[in-house]
Amino acid sequence: MRRWFAVQLSIIVPTYNEAPNVGELVRRVAAATEGIDAEIVFVDDSSDATPDEVVRVAASAPLPVRLIHRARRRGGLGGAVLEGLEAAEADACLVMDGDLQHPPEEIPALWQRFRRGDVDVVVASRYVGGGTSGGLADRTRVLVSKASTGLTRAMFPIRLKDVSDPMTGFFLIDRRTVDTETLTPRGFKILLEILARRSLRVAEVPFDFATRHAGESKASVRQGVHFLTQLTALRFGKMSLFAVIGGLGALVNLAIMWGLTHAGVDYLVAAIIAAETTIIGNFLLQERFVFQDMTGAASGVWSRFAKSFAFNNAEALIRIPIIALMVETWHFSAVVAAAITLVFAFVLRFVFHSLVVYAPQRVGEVSPARHFLDELDAQAMSPGEL
Ligand code: GDD
Ligand code: MN
Repeated sequence: MRRWFAVQLSIIVPTYNEAPNVGELVRRVAAATEGIDAEIVFVDDSSDATPDEVVRVAASAPLPVRLIHRARRRGGLGGAVLEGLEAAEADACLVMDGDLQHPPEEIPALWQRFRRGDVDVVVASRYVGGGTSGGLADRTRVLVSKASTGLTRAMFPIRLKDVSDPMTGFFLIDRRTVDTETLTPRGFKILLEILARRSLRVAEVPFDFATRHAGESKASVRQGVHFLTQLTALRFGKMSLFAVIGGLGALVNLAIMWGLTHAGVDYLVAAIIAAETTIIGNFLLQERFVFQDMTGAASGVWSRFAKSFAFNNAEALIRIPIIALMVETWHFSAVVAAAITLVFAFVLRFVFHSLVVYAPQRVGEVSPARHFLDELDAQAMSPGEL
């Protein structure tokens, strides 16, 4: 057994029901890291026998093998990687899948590149000279992977200029360059999140994406939706997602109005039903996709709903007399007046939701004004520059 202290390289393996792969993975990693003081940290969310298997294999492994079994699957794969980075012994952290699609035999290549000391991250890429993506399950996955990689690179042309494969889950990073506090991992694409938020020095090495050793993939359409919201939020900040949901809500509102009035419902009753339905629908979508990373620290869901509901109703009530005022006394056209109030209402609604509805419960010692500005900045501005 190698020494437990002075670990040079921590290998972080997120696992979700990978029991049949653990033994083979540890065996091949151990063989590949001969001569490197490495440890393996499994960050596990499994409901199968994976944790028992890790403990069993660890007992006879030639390198330290640790298990972090999480009670809650917070942040999914991305959340697991972050926990691994925090728990690692070494600052040099290599992240790889637990299903052997990332060949352990490539570890020395990543390690040697990293040891040159001129970069913060070494990315194992499927799309750089010599790399392949043969292990992707089928033509659809290949297409989805290529299209999303292209889209992502187009959206971050500067941050990702040296990165051909920002969606890979196989990379070696100096964890001191990762601001774990501000990352909000969602689903699978943790590397993208890291690279989009900060400008890091990146090198790539090619690798062949293999087929799964055993078990099945956890990728899903749900992960795809996660990815798209993550991309939008990273690029444009929360405000744009908020706007997209608001816009969808407006369309649904009109559709309900149309349906109800055609069914003979009085237009005022129809307007009220449409407005309230949209307010509730928007709240649920925003909980799920815009402010999901803030619900943990905020007040309870009913309290959030009450604030949001009250705000939106008050806003609708106040907007109408303001439009009247603008039309009657300032002679705006009704449409222009409505448009101006809608834009104001939108900004106000966003500010109110991010600073009041989803406010963390304890503010600490910072002055309220400073806190307000910091929060507004953090919420509204996009994290990366072009
Ligand atoms: N702890 C934890 N929690 N691990 C998870 C979770 C989770 O919720 N979901 C998936 N994993 C683990 C799996 O057990 C596996 O070790 C690894 O994350 C990758 O999951 P797969 O189910 O094998 O996903 P994939 O093969 O479709 O995705 C791989 O390829 C993508 C590129 O196409 C991953 O490497 C991605 O990171 C990569 O982006
Ligand atoms: Mn896989």
